[in-house]
Amino acid sequence: MSLPKVFITRPLPRAAVERIATQCEVTVYPEDVRLPLAQLAAACREVEGLVASGAQVSTELLEQAPHLRVVSTVGVGYDNIDVAACTRRRILVTNTPGVVTEATADLCFALLMAVARRLVEADRHVREGHWQYWQWRNMWGTNPSGKTLGIYGFGRIGQAVARRARGFSMRIIYHSKDRPTPEQEQELGAQYVNRETLLHEADFLTLHVPLAPDTHHLIGVTELALMKPTAFLINTSRGKVVEEAALVEALQSKRIAGAALDVFEFEPQIHPALLAMPNVIVSPHMGTATSETRLAMAMKTAENLLAALVGHRPPNLVNPEAWQE
Ligand code: 8YV
Repeated sequence: MSLPKVFITRPLPRAAVERIATQCEVTVYPEDVRLPLAQLAAACREVEGLVASGAQVSTELLEQAPHLRVVSTVGVGYDNIDVAACTRRRILVTNTPGVVTEATADLCFALLMAVARRLVEADRHVREGHWQYWQWRNMWGTNPSGKTLGIYGFGRIGQAVARRARGFSMRIIYHSKDRPTPEQEQELGAQYVNRETLLHEADFLTLHVPLAPDTHHLIGVTELALMKPTAFLINTSRGKVVEEAALVEALQSKRIAGAALDVFEFEPQIHPALLAMPNVIVSPHMGTATSETRLAMAMKTAENLLAALVGHRPPNLVNPEAWQE
C-alpha cells in the first residue's frame, strides 16, 4: 500500500519531519521562504496532507489540490487558511494551541517592559556614542508597577500575560468574549470590564484576540481616542486587528504615548512613520520564536497531521464540522 503524500512548506525540525515520515511520503521545501501560489500549488497537486507553515491556503490553492484531506498549520492562529472552503471539501484543518502560549506571553511582556523603559532607544543611544556621562535626566521611562494593564482577549495567551503582570504588581483588567470562571479570575487577579473601560483605564493595552471578521480593525480611530495620552499599545496578536494608519495618527498627535508591535497590518511592510518614531518598538512577528516552542509546535503539527491521515480525529481540530467518523 502506498503511503499518503505530504508537503511541508518550510524546513521544520528534523524530529517532526521524521515523525511524519514514519507514515507518509514526505517532501519538505528546503528554504525558509513564503512560496508563491503557483509553486505551492504545483507541490500540492498529489498530496493528501499539507503542513502549512507561513503559507496561505486559499481557495485557489485548494482548487489545485484535489487529493487534500488535511491542512495542519504550525501556529495557533489560522487566519492564513480559508477554513470555510476546507470544510466544504471536508478537508480537516488543525492548529497548535497551548504550546505557543508561554513564549508569546513572554514576548508580549518583553515588549511591554522595553517600551516602558525605552530599552531599544537606550541601546541605540549607547551604541551611537551619545552616552558621555551619567545624567539625572537621561532615558526616563515609565514604571509598569502600580499601573493598569488592559488585556483585550482573555484566552490562554491573555491569561498567561496576566500571570506575568501579577509579578510586576500591576492592576489587571480585561475584556473578552469568553470569560474564565470567577475562581480563575480571582487566581489571576484580573477584573472583567467593558470595552470602553478597558480602553479608557489601561496604561498598557495588550491585544490577544484571533484575527476574524469581527476583530479586523478592532483598534481604530474611535478606540485610540478613548485611550490615555500616557498609554502604550502592545500587539503580539495579528496586525490587522489594529488599523495601522489610525495608530500612526494617534502616535503623531500624541493621543497615546507609544507602541510595541510584533505584527503589522500589511506585514512584512510596516508604515514608514512607525519606523521613524523612537517611542515605537518593532519586531518581526516572532512571538513563538524560541527553539523549544518551535520544536513543540512542529511536533504537535505532526501529531495532528498523522491522526487525520490515519482516520483518527486530530487533537486540535479547527473545523469539527468537516469531521466524519
Ligand atoms: C507563527 C503565530 O509564526 O501561533 C501563531 O498564531 O503567530 C506564529 O506562531 C505564524 O502562525 C506563522 O506561521
